[in-house]
Amino acid sequence: MSGAARLARFGDNKKTPHPMPQNEAILVTGGSGQLARRVLELLLEQGAGPLITTTRSPERLYDLTARGVTVRQADFTQSAEDLADVFRGARQMLLVSTNTLEGPGKRFEQHERAIRAAVEAGVEHIVYTSLTFPYPSSPVTLARDHYETENLLREIRVEYTFLRNNIYAESLLFSLPGAVRSGRLKAAAGDGRAAYVTREDCARAAAGALLRGETRCSYEISGPEALSFADLADIASRLAGRPVTYEPVDADAWREELEAGGMDPKLAELWVSFDRAIGAGCMDLVTRDVERLSGRAPQHMEEFLQRHLEELHRN
Ligand SMILES: NC(=O)c1ccc[n+]([C@@H]2O[C@H](COP(=O)([O-])OP(=O)(O)OC[C@H]3O[C@@H](n4cnc5c(N)ncnc54)[C@H](OP(=O)(O)O)[C@@H]3O)[C@@H](O)[C@H]2O)c1
Repeated sequence: MSGAARLARFGDNKKTPHPMPQNEAILVTGGSGQLARRVLELLLEQGAGPLITTTRSPERLYDLTARGVTVRQADFTQSAEDLADVFRGARQMLLVSTNTLEGPGKRFEQHERAIRAAVEAGVEHIVYTSLTFPYPSSPVTLARDHYETENLLREIRVEYTFLRNNIYAESLLFSLPGAVRSGRLKAAAGDGRAAYVTREDCARAAAGALLRGETRCSYEISGPEALSFADLADIASRLAGRPVTYEPVDADAWREELEAGGMDPKLAELWVSFDRAIGAGCMDLVTRDVERLSGRAPQHMEEFLQRHLEELHRN
């Protein structure tokens, strides 16, 4: 059986070694996550492959198995040795950053294990989902994890591509419905702006980056415009047909208010740190990289929110 045929077979058993002589597949980590799944769908639509995905929850990906994707179980808390076995057979990897809130350094720890395992398994090119302005001076609590992951990829013997994703447009669907209800959009971002980008555009850019295969470069994945919270309040007012006003608030008071409203304290800290980063001018970089990678201009926030009008009116 050829390497390709072996890779295309369904339902690899996580316990058996993966003796794939040739590294020819594209592997996407975290296949049950929203971004990774969409990237896999886009790659399938384009006939790319063979495709492998790793996930903590293979049972959620039976439909992808049926479409020819090899699904393997993996958790970046496993040993690098176990992970290397699971990654075998891949030439390229999309390393989707994990979402643990277990404190600074934890994501990097997981990414490091995955990267060392991938190199051990013979992966030649790692595309990594980083963050806009991934430097320790960013107020975003997990910016340092991205910084250290990028640095490791630069230092280790592998080709790399960074996709520095701006804030997902979908995060606005968390904050704007309450603002439409109350007429007040609160944030601790001053007059700062962010170049919100839809998850769909991030996924298209990631699929494009894998297919183009350009290495040793960073792409700044942004929406088409940088918007302040005052701009967002105006858009929400127009779309909802009700007045919404931006109310700048103090960061610590805002974190306490979010926690009092039931938000997990670690998430509240992360949320407010993004506000601080917006206020500090770390998130306003607008580029044409989404279009460069995907062939399609990124969606404007007004259009995105128009398409989610029902959610804006959510009670
Ligand atoms: N730019 C932004 O505004 C923004 C917002 C939210 C998240 N993010 C980042 O972008 C990533 C993808 O976004 P998303 O929307 O797809 O998030 P999501 O739907 O919450 O998915 C989380 C992802 O993290 C993976 N993951 C979590 N713990 C893991 C572990 N221990 N080992 C291996 N993989 C693990 C999951 O893989 P499985 O569950 O399949 O194992 C899944 O792919 C997130 O994980 C986060 O790092 C960015």
